[in-house]
Amino acid sequence: MANEPRYHPGADMQGFVNELMEFVDLNETDVATIRRTAPVILRHEQDITTALYEHFLKFPATARFFLREDGTPDEQRLARRKHSLGRWLRETAEVAMTHDFVYYLLAVSLSHSHRAVGPEGKVPPQFMVAAMSIAQTAFARLFEAECTDVQEAFEASLAWNKLLLLHLNVLLLGYWLPPRRA
Ligand code: HEM
Repeated sequence: MANEPRYHPGADMQGFVNELMEFVDLNETDVATIRRTAPVILRHEQDITTALYEHFLKFPATARFFLREDGTPDEQRLARRKHSLGRWLRETAEVAMTHDFVYYLLAVSLSHSHRAVGPEGKVPPQFMVAAMSIAQTAFARLFEAECTDVQEAFEASLAWNKLLLLHLNVLLLGYWLPPRRA
C-alpha cells in the first residue's frame, strides 16, 4: 500500500521521535515547563502508581494481567509493575530523548505487545491508550491543585500532554509488528 512505511520506525527511533516532537511543537519551553513541574508529579509517584493499578483491578479486561490462578490479586507482580511504572515516570520527567531512552521506551512497548510470559497474551492496545488518558487526567488534576498559579497549571498540562502522547506513540509501535509465532 502506498501509505505503508518502508521500514519499521524501530530502525530509527530518534528520527521517529524527533519528527513527532517537531510535528506537535514539543519545544524547549515545554521541556523547561515539564522539568520545572516534575516535582508536582514525582512527589505523588506512589499514589499515582497505586491508583492506576487499583483502577486496572476494577475491570476484568485489565485485571486479568494481575491476578493469580485463584483470581486474587498477585501482590508480587503488582509491586514489580508499580516499580517499573515509577521508573518510567521518573525518566519521563527528565525529557532526555537520548538513544538509550527511546530504545528503552520501545522495549517497554514490546513487553506489552509481544508478551513472552503469562497466559493472558498481549495487552490490548486500546488499554494502552486508555491508561494514558487516565495518566493525563491525574496529572492535570495535580497541576490544578498544586501549581503556583493557574497559568502554570495550564502550561504544565499542555506540555505534559504533548510528551505523554509522544510516549504513547512509541508504546504503540510494538503493535505495528506481526505477532510472535507460537
Ligand atoms: C500508560 C501506559 C503504560 C505504561 C507507561 C506502562 C509501563 C510499563 C513498564 C515501564 C513496564 C516494564 C517493562 C519492562 O520492564 O520491560 C510494564 C510492564 C507491564 N505492563 Fe505496563 N504500562 C502501561 C499500560 C499497561 C496496561 C494498560 C496494562 C494492562 C492492563 C499493562 C500491563 C503490563 C504488564 C502485564 C507488564 C509486564 C510485561 C511482561 O510480562 O514482561 N501496562 N509496563
